[in-house]
Amino acid sequence: MQKPSAPSASPLIPVWDVPTRLFHWLLVCLIATSWTTGELGGDEWLRYHFWSGYAILTLVLFRIAWGVVGSTHARFASFVRGVPSALQHLRELARPGPTSDLGHNAIGGWMIVVMLIALLVQTGTGLFADDDIVTTGPLGDLVSSATRSRLTTVHVYNFDVILALAGLHIAAVLAYWIVKRQNLIGAMITGRKRAPAADLGASAVAGVAAHPVVAAAALIGAAAVVAGIVGLVPYFAR
Ligand code: HEM
Ligand code: HEM
Repeated sequence: MQKPSAPSASPLIPVWDVPTRLFHWLLVCLIATSWTTGELGGDEWLRYHFWSGYAILTLVLFRIAWGVVGSTHARFASFVRGVPSALQHLRELARPGPTSDLGHNAIGGWMIVVMLIALLVQTGTGLFADDDIVTTGPLGDLVSSATRSRLTTVHVYNFDVILALAGLHIAAVLAYWIVKRQNLIGAMITGRKRAPAADLGASAVAGVAAHPVVAAAALIGAAAVVAGIVGLVPYFAR
């Protein structure tokens, strides 16, 4: 009788498109930049902090659009699933051997939504934050100083939430590597994953490919929204 093929024998197939991978690793670098410059503080560092924050907001808005118009596994519809799928995933985790998801699993999918919301809160409150010295976010003058101070407090504490989510996320990715012997990090770098045999037919063949023009349009749209918020909103509010 023929033995079932080991996961390493299954072919590598494309899962994460270039925009999704760029989004991820740029986000990691920019969060490190925002963290460092925010902690250093002072007029000079906060200037870089603002730019890094605008870039993060652009990336997050891009990712939300890409979750609708991106390639198959980048779409929210493919990875935001209900409680039954999450329970099914938990059962798979309890069994030995690799899990069967090609894209994000049902629990990871919700984690991604929560991380994107936390980043929107961080950038949104940052726009109104002030350091009580000379530096105020670009929308700070639109609200009272009491509101500014409350939003700055949210900005400071929400960053701890982001750090906790990132820690949990990295621990989960490492646990997959060590316990399940699934190298998800390599897939987020190369874009390719070893497919569970059962998934080969459906997922490898019937997918929506990433379109560079659509990706560029989504990125330009996201950047335009951020430029509009930062530059034009205070102007119209005068
Ligand atoms: C500030 C730190 C981080 C944040 C906020 C973050 C956020 C995210 C987000 C939003 C996604 C979803 C990607 C998408 O579909 O667009 C993701 C996926 C992923 N991240 Fe991170 N990430 C962080 C750090 C890291 C690090 C350091 C690693 C590597 C050790 C990593 C490995 C991965 C992997 C492997 C996936 C894909 C998971 C899967 O296969 O479902 N992340 N991350
Ligand atoms: C929209 C862009 C952003 C603006 C305009 C902004 C603005 C500010 C301001 C004015 C401060 C000084 C507050 C104080 O000293 O009490 C600050 C601090 C900080 N920000 Fe941001 N921010 C933005 C985005 C971000 C992002 C994306 C992150 C991280 C992901 C972040 C993390 C921090 C941290 C860690 C501090 C230091 C908090 C502390 O004093 O402990 N910010 N930010």
